[in-house]
Amino acid sequence: MTSVQHSNSASPVAAFPAGFRWGAATAAYQIEGAAAEDGRGPSIWDTFCRTPGKVLNGENGDVAVDHYHRFRDDVALMADLGLTAYRFSISWPRVQPSGAGKLNQAGIDFYQRLVDALLEAGIEPWPTLYHWDLPQELEDAGGWPERDTAYRFADYAGQVGAALGDRVRQWMTINEPWCAAFLGYASGEHAPGRREPAASLRAAHHLMLGHGLAVEAMRARHPDNRFGAAVNLYAISPASQLEADLDAARRIDGMQNRFFLDPLLRGAYPADVLTDLEGLDFDVAIKEGDLATINQPIDQLGINYYSRFTVSGTPGDATQAVSSPFSSHSPWVGSDRVRFVDGGRPVTGMGWEIDESGLHEVLTRLHREYPPVSLYITENGAGYDEALTDGTVNDGERIAYLDAHLRACHTAIAEGVPLQGYFTWSLLDNFEWAWGYSKRFGLVHVDYATQRRVPKDSARWYAAVIRQGGLPDHR
Ligand code: FCB
Repeated sequence: MTSVQHSNSASPVAAFPAGFRWGAATAAYQIEGAAAEDGRGPSIWDTFCRTPGKVLNGENGDVAVDHYHRFRDDVALMADLGLTAYRFSISWPRVQPSGAGKLNQAGIDFYQRLVDALLEAGIEPWPTLYHWDLPQELEDAGGWPERDTAYRFADYAGQVGAALGDRVRQWMTINEPWCAAFLGYASGEHAPGRREPAASLRAAHHLMLGHGLAVEAMRARHPDNRFGAAVNLYAISPASQLEADLDAARRIDGMQNRFFLDPLLRGAYPADVLTDLEGLDFDVAIKEGDLATINQPIDQLGINYYSRFTVSGTPGDATQAVSSPFSSHSPWVGSDRVRFVDGGRPVTGMGWEIDESGLHEVLTRLHREYPPVSLYITENGAGYDEALTDGTVNDGERIAYLDAHLRACHTAIAEGVPLQGYFTWSLLDNFEWAWGYSKRFGLVHVDYATQRRVPKDSARWYAAVIRQGGLPDHR
């Protein structure tokens, strides 16, 4: 492990409030490895990775970046960066291998060791309970489209909360229910790879219900702890002011943003989206009391923000369409009527358009249109296909991305948005789901053959931002 060299820079031009959380995020399946150790059971991602053609180069998270064995080195790296908070996820199949019953002690011991190491280093632990690794046995019983999975999740959450809640104060229940439901069960690009639009809607509802039930179960044991969920929000622009384009923007904003924000924060699914979904039997999944459970008070909302989409509802040249997470297998958004078009912005190595104004838009909209809740950016970052050159990675593009997005956060805070922390995605290069190891998001480069960690230029830059409590004037 190479340590972070601190550089001297000028005093900050954009200072963040005292107590602002400076963090980085990861997720269990993407970093831990040790897939068959200490009683961990298989998850839907283990199965999906073994299905030919699903993940680039047939790669998987069996070893990943071996964080399970190297977590102490990784915590030392975080301390070197000066992180004040670390967002990670707890692997459900590691702590409850079949998705039911008592916890696997060896699994929970790992998270106890990790949490203790973080606390000793002065870093606040921010676990997420579900970052997509459903125990395979639960998928075999029907997965998230089955209501019982929400009850199983609450049971798991309650037990984990009881085991760690004396030292972990900040909890996130689910990560990006949009991806888990729609990439997992509609487009099939993520595990479990099903292409069943109606089932994907039930999955979304049960993920949200699971969130609410989990908060109840955890809060009952540790009422002083703080709970929330992390949703992936996008800024959405219509390609023009034509009615068809405006309607396309309404639809995509509806499915991407409001479908999750409205039940969480207002206790109702958006009426226009329910109309869009007519014929898919979505309402039959919603039982009496569910929306109140989903809408119970939360202490914080996590926002994962990466990009803006520009959408059109007019027929056009298919070759002008840009790739989007809404694939042709998602008729429930009217994808036959919506084209994702080039917004004319530079893109990251993922092909995602870079638009920090979209982050400002998302933050101010939440503040303006929804009941008050503390906000945290729980993910934001840029992925590239990058390599070590002369022993380092000169990732100026990532620095520019993070700098611009943090400036957008700073402006929003100045305008009164209750944003209290920022977690960049990601601490380390890692397994990027269907992209395998081809895309790197880390502040720290990982050589996958040797597991050697080398901080990139962005790590040094972020350490300086944290040390100064704000952004340097480097422009
Ligand atoms: C988010 C995921 C995270 C990571 C980033 C790039 O959708 O939550 O695990 O893959 O995208």
